[in-house]
Amino acid sequence: MAWIIRALKEEDEAFLWEMLYQALYLPEGQAPLSREVIHLPELARYVQDWGSDGDCGFMVIDSLTGKPVGAVWLRLLTGNNKGYGYIDDYTPELGIAIFPEYRGQGIGTRLLTHLVESPCGQSPISLSVSIDNPAVRLYERFGFNVISRSDESLLMKRDCKILKSN
Ligand SMILES: CC(C)(COP(=O)(O)OP(=O)(O)OC[C@H]1O[C@@H](n2cnc3c(N)ncnc32)[C@H](O)[C@@H]1OP(=O)(O)O)[C@@H](O)C(=O)NCCC(=O)NCCS
Repeated sequence: MAWIIRALKEEDEAFLWEMLYQALYLPEGQAPLSREVIHLPELARYVQDWGSDGDCGFMVIDSLTGKPVGAVWLRLLTGNNKGYGYIDDYTPELGIAIFPEYRGQGIGTRLLTHLVESPCGQSPISLSVSIDNPAVRLYERFGFNVISRSDESLLMKRDCKILKSN
């Protein structure tokens, strides 16, 4: 399999809405959520008006079919618009999803690697994740640490690594 990774553009907002839906964690055996759920303000804020200042993300495309299979994105959510992963006014929150049939093949790892090596990945990054989501292991491998926890979720942060030239 060969994958192409490219930056998310303003016109990718419709795809990002789909990715937001795919990013919602469902424990094994739970019935699918209504698609309407992503339009609740607390979720919609991760995607609405994509392409605003500071937005940054990447999508991955199956080079054989041309089909998009996943995305990772960062958005700074502050003030009345804070997200579940809010830490401070300088730390953007991460969203990530891969379509179910492509999960567990290393694509999410490639996307995250691309993000943290890109210019916009050079800041601290935060996220909120369900406590029993297997993605916690992926985040830990990328240097995310648990900042706080509730009964249901973890708030995680990856600090910016300052690269030294010598
Ligand atoms: C999380 C996700 C983006 C990772 O992408 P991926 O291509 O499956 O990941 P990779 O194959 O590169 O890496 C494997 C790691 O991904 C995570 N993972 C794999 N399948 C997963 C799944 N169905 N759900 C959640 N995380 C999964 C695990 O941490 C796994 O690590 P492990 O092998 O040590 O268990 C993808 O699985 C997904 O879209 N999951 C559902 C949505 C989600 O949970 N998003 C995060 C919300 S905070």
